Amino acid sequence: MSDKVYRASTTAPVNIAVVKYWGKRDAKLNLPTNSSLSVTLSQADLRTLTTASCSASFPASEGDSLLLNGEPSDISGARTQACLRELRTRRAALEAADSSLPKLSTYPLRLVSENNFPTAAGLASSAAGFAALVRAIANLYELPASPSELSLIARQGSGSACRSLFGGYVAWRMGDKADGTDSMADQVAEASHWPDMRALVLVVSAAKKGVSSSSGMQQTVATSGLFRERIATVVPENMAIMEKAIAEKDFEKFAEVTMRDSNSFHATCADTYPPIFYMNDVSRAAIRAVETINEKAGRTVAAYTFDAGPNAVIYYQEKDTEAVVGTFYHVLQGADVGGWKSAEIKGLKPTISLDENVAGLLKTGVSRVIMTGVGEGPVKTDEYLIAEDGTPA
Ligand code: DP6
Repeated sequence: MSDKVYRASTTAPVNIAVVKYWGKRDAKLNLPTNSSLSVTLSQADLRTLTTASCSASFPASEGDSLLLNGEPSDISGARTQACLRELRTRRAALEAADSSLPKLSTYPLRLVSENNFPTAAGLASSAAGFAALVRAIANLYELPASPSELSLIARQGSGSACRSLFGGYVAWRMGDKADGTDSMADQVAEASHWPDMRALVLVVSAAKKGVSSSSGMQQTVATSGLFRERIATVVPENMAIMEKAIAEKDFEKFAEVTMRDSNSFHATCADTYPPIFYMNDVSRAAIRAVETINEKAGRTVAAYTFDAGPNAVIYYQEKDTEAVVGTFYHVLQGADVGGWKSAEIKGLKPTISLDENVAGLLKTGVSRVIMTGVGEGPVKTDEYLIAEDGTPA
């Protein structure tokens, strides 16, 4: 038996939805109640790096394992198991068709994964994590699968992960088949289509861990009347307007739908019984700040959106950096906020002033910022987190 250790590494990005996925019609297959659309953020600032390896020399008794940010991670959960099973089945089919192929599908998998951002930031790391896991194993197994085909697998790990298989602007089409074979992601536009698009993340620390998205959305589906309206009319309309806004690089429309859809999603959370609150006073101050910035700029220059937590993601165009980033930078100056990119904030003047209450809340509640842009999908890399002998590097 050969001792050869097979390895493959990839990076995968975080994505932040502008039309939100919230609701499952099938929890086992992870099928959504509505389509959604997201922007892939640059991996220079936010990414997961994953190395997948396997070898006949790895003891069978060891089973599959994952080391995440240096800690052993439990992969026995149904969702991770579904991803591993699907990938192995596809590899096994290749091996059955060509007997010269090494039987990688029968070897234990060793996976090592690292984020380049603090997990404590509460950013959706599961999307980048599952996308990287699926892409790395698909590379290891040399599967001839397209990103859309892989999105079918990543979806079963975490819904939003299916959108992290692509860069730029990405739609997850809900599909209508019961077996989920048409519930997958596709690219709406490349990152380079709209080079001016930027994102500023305000990291807001949560007092305690909120309701997880998985259980929160199940409660919403079961109890909210408003939610039925959201999936029947609000989201289909938002998807259509958003796709057109992106195609036409119409920031005003893009921003309006982004903000309305975030508000609609959080309204269905408030309409859940008992209600779920993800935003806090600092999040609401960020909304007020964006409204003031847009009002004083005389047009829509910024758009806020919030996921299942208090962090604000603010989309803007590079030409409006002074109005958007300049305002937040000057308000947060003096507070202990890390993450500013000195080259980008240099010379920004405080042209817009915010209400004292709003400024005070932001100063006490924002712990760091992430200045980033739109980026590419997963990238194959020669950087390995597992050495040639199969031990963590
Ligand atoms: C609010 O993808 O984390 O971020 O499928 O249960 O893993 P699971 O849920 P997850 O939900 C993300 C919800 C959201 C909106 C979005 O990303 O579209």
